[in-house]
Amino acid sequence: MMMEKFCQNVKLPQKGFFGWLTTKMFESKNRFLEVNAVKLCELKPDHQVLELGFGPGLGLEAAVKEMKDGPGKLWGLDLSPYMIEVAGKRLKDDINSGRVELCLGSVMDLPFEANTFDRVFHCNCFYFWPNIDRGVQEIMRVMKPDSLMVTTINQASINKAIERGVLKYANPNVPLYIEVLKRNGFSNVNIQELDDSGTAYQAIFASVGKKDN
Ligand SMILES: C[S@@+](CC[C@H](N)C(=O)[O-])C[C@H]1O[C@@H](n2cnc3c(N)ncnc32)[C@H](O)[C@@H]1O
Repeated sequence: MMMEKFCQNVKLPQKGFFGWLTTKMFESKNRFLEVNAVKLCELKPDHQVLELGFGPGLGLEAAVKEMKDGPGKLWGLDLSPYMIEVAGKRLKDDINSGRVELCLGSVMDLPFEANTFDRVFHCNCFYFWPNIDRGVQEIMRVMKPDSLMVTTINQASINKAIERGVLKYANPNVPLYIEVLKRNGFSNVNIQELDDSGTAYQAIFASVGKKDN
């Protein structure tokens, strides 16, 4: 029963003890993935940037610092009202100033115009999407021509989570994700093995080239 609640909250954190617990876990274990995804995006002050599945909001917090006082804007989209609440508190000042906007919604149906974003990033998220092709097609739609998406993951901790049964509501299949990116028109799709202070992690890069629409 407790394990079941934990697994559900890893996929979709909800207000309550298990949502609080999973949030603390994301904050301590995944901060470096969020910060590195932002670094690898090479953000410019005028970029329009989207983070998907932002959880507690650590990536958006890092991205705001990176973009300084430029005219760009950051958007976050997450399916969990509780994560909107947690990240909303963390980013209160940036939301009030209009630099950051948080949206409740699913990657399956992004509430953004076509060709909006210069950079998209996400960490520990794609494996919860109900249909990876549909999610990737939506992302492609909202990305500008000549834009970049960065995905960071820690395969070793994913493997441990699979062994412990924590990812029973996920499909953490990296080769499938890469294949889906390629078959939906992303270019220069590649995975790099990287290191942060002795902890290995993986970054998947996917570019959008020219677009017809
Ligand atoms: C494992 S958490 C990762 C949070 C954070 N990125 C991190 O690495 O710590 C997965 C996040 O994806 C969100 N999520 C799950 N399914 C989603 C979907 N279909 N669309 C958007 N967000 C989703 C969850 O609400 C949760 O915040």
